[in-house]
Amino acid sequence: MTLLAIETSCDETGAAVVRDGCLLSNVVSSQTAIHAEYGGVVPELAAREHLRHLIPVTRQALREAGMTPAALDAVAATRGPGLPSALLAGLKTAQALAFSLRKPFLGVHHLEAHLYSPWILPDPPRSDFAQFEPSVSLIVSGGHTLLVLVEGLFQHRVLGSTLDDAAGECFDKTGKLMGLAYPAGPEIDRLAAEGNPTAFQFPRPMLHEPNCDFSFAGLKTSVRYFLEKNPKLADDRQGLRDLCASIQAAIVDVLVAKTVRAARRLGRRCVTASGGVACNGALRRQLASACQQSGLRLRLADRKFSTDNAAMIGILAAGKWKAGLGEMSVDADIDPGWAL
Ligand code: KG4
Ligand code: ZN
Repeated sequence: MTLLAIETSCDETGAAVVRDGCLLSNVVSSQTAIHAEYGGVVPELAAREHLRHLIPVTRQALREAGMTPAALDAVAATRGPGLPSALLAGLKTAQALAFSLRKPFLGVHHLEAHLYSPWILPDPPRSDFAQFEPSVSLIVSGGHTLLVLVEGLFQHRVLGSTLDDAAGECFDKTGKLMGLAYPAGPEIDRLAAEGNPTAFQFPRPMLHEPNCDFSFAGLKTSVRYFLEKNPKLADDRQGLRDLCASIQAAIVDVLVAKTVRAARRLGRRCVTASGGVACNGALRRQLASACQQSGLRLRLADRKFSTDNAAMIGILAAGKWKAGLGEMSVDADIDPGWAL
């Protein structure tokens, strides 16, 4: 079974080809440089860029996989959640292709794709659903921060989420306050590697609350007040590194403590983490050591499948197809607020 998958929920245009659970190609065209100028994603610009890149990116994915459209068995695309105009571009392109080829169309939940992305092996890239085990899963991206109880393959329920800003948003917005370009997460990660995480004390929001919810808006505000009181600090090289390390430590401490606590309380043996922020070096190291101390197995999404990509859309669509799930009408509309 060979499937083409398209992802356009935010600012990456992605296309991937999956055959029998193996990834044959995975092409991503990023718009980051375009949005950096505005300090965040501009939806109208994102949609226009998707329209410009969808056909070349899809052609490249098919070429790299050695496929022709006629040889496809199905077409999948992200249906939500995401930016409405961005979703529309990818979903309607995929549906038009499925319609013209008279092949089934599968609508994919973007967060569900992140959720199961830790079950993609990187080398050679392929689905590892055969090894699936129930887990407590952290999804941390630019738009979402969720803790999810995964009881079976494609059976999950949200335990908690952020009450305000997502973890990635906190990285990006505090980075903007420090004068870093959008998206600031990767740059904070790099600068923090040479900084002292205990140099400055920032709040660990909701760390001690016995629920699975998060809140990062207060941390962002406390960084803003701190910078107002110390206006020169971010101009000094070591000062900036220490600041990045201290902010990162506050975010990571909360994510790690609440994830591991949820797994222990619910008696789960496995923890997974995915989404763009799961690329963060400190988060990966701290989760690994906390899980080891608590006797939990950890599955981290490979970095190349953590930020938005069509491989995770295709692998999930193929897995669900095998289970008789996910097929939708070629007229199915986008669902920008689709809850997990
Ligand atoms: O999953 P993703 O590509 O898009 C969404 O679905 O939102 O995540 C993007 C987010 C951005 O906020 C970006 O700053 C963050 O992931 N990010 C990181 C790192 N790499 C990407 N945050 C911290 N450290 C990183 N290394
Ligand atoms: Zn995402």
